[in-house]
Amino acid sequence: MEYRSLGRTGWKVSEVSFGAWAIGGAWGHVSDADGLASLHKAIDCGVNFIDTADVYGDGRSERLIAQVKKSRKEQIIIATKAGRRLPKQVVEGYTRANLTAWIEDSLRNLSVDTLDLLQLHCPPTEVYYRPEVFGVLDDLVKAGKIRYYGVSVEKVEEALKAIEFPGVQSVQIIFNCFRQRPAELFFAQAKQKQVGILARVPLASGLLTGKLRRDSTFAADDHRNFNRHGNAFDVGETFSGVDYETGLAAVEEIRKMLPNGVSMSQFALRWILMFDAVSCAIPGGKSPAQVSDNCAASSVSSLNHETMAAVKRLYDQKIRPLVHQRW
Ligand SMILES: NC(=O)c1ccc[n+]([C@@H]2O[C@H](COP(=O)([O-])OP(=O)(O)OC[C@H]3O[C@@H](n4cnc5c(N)ncnc54)[C@H](OP(=O)(O)O)[C@@H]3O)[C@@H](O)[C@H]2O)c1
Repeated sequence: MEYRSLGRTGWKVSEVSFGAWAIGGAWGHVSDADGLASLHKAIDCGVNFIDTADVYGDGRSERLIAQVKKSRKEQIIIATKAGRRLPKQVVEGYTRANLTAWIEDSLRNLSVDTLDLLQLHCPPTEVYYRPEVFGVLDDLVKAGKIRYYGVSVEKVEEALKAIEFPGVQSVQIIFNCFRQRPAELFFAQAKQKQVGILARVPLASGLLTGKLRRDSTFAADDHRNFNRHGNAFDVGETFSGVDYETGLAAVEEIRKMLPNGVSMSQFALRWILMFDAVSCAIPGGKSPAQVSDNCAASSVSSLNHETMAAVKRLYDQKIRPLVHQRW
């Protein structure tokens, strides 16, 4: 596993890290045993950074991580999030009282006195125009409740605005072969300001593993079933906002580009790691086999210029019209 700097934190994080949404909820049934085994496997593979949120399984993801962390001697950095407990996403909900209460819940779930990294969890755009919200986060750093804070955003515009606040250490954004816009302007600016970047949904919710088919089915409590049209949250979080049939067709084009012995998941993650502004990709994993497949991307050779150009062409021709102007 290779490690990269995360902004100005001084941390070196595994370039393939672990996204702990699926082991919490909203991805069909994942047993505690599978969630715990996946986390252990990630640490065995050198992962030292885990992304979670208070709402993933209503604290379940955080509690599973705490359990594993307690039983391991490795130093593990945990990034969690706050904000989605609001019944409605309105800027007025981002109060000192609410933020403090959400953070206290995460501290309890994670069994720690200080959160390593707290991210605002895709708040409404207006929050980025409210310096007082970031002032509250600065106060929580001073109070020792959080070590660092960052944001998780939906749109590039939000990312650009967020990094104007000097306390923002990291931006989490969807970035993968089907979501290339962050690399245009935002990456250069984040690099210049030394802000870390967490590439989320790196496998486009499983599409970029190459295993999904037209007739694949998803459980009723899997967002790939219930949020396919954005019924529950931003549609961009499910298959990166690419319609399923178009995504499947594009995946077949990528399949032709795979170097010998490289799985499509590894290819998709290696593509992300080709951008040095990225601190880490945070693929989800529901089993030790998925996790080790993903972690192996760190040792896959760099993709050559022709391959990078081919992925760009595929994006420009097939995917760009669906997503580029939206996020
Ligand atoms: N708003 C936010 O801040 C936000 C939103 C979304 C995600 N995130 C974070 O980003 C992380 C990653 O995104 P994501 O989990 O949504 O999507 P993802 O990483 O693109 O896809 C993960 C899913 O793909 C499948 N998979 C993973 N590795 C595989 C492999 N090697 N072979 C075959 N299948 C594999 C698994 O589901 P199946 O086996 O069921 O197919 C897994 O749950 C999340 O866990 C979360 O930490 C944050």
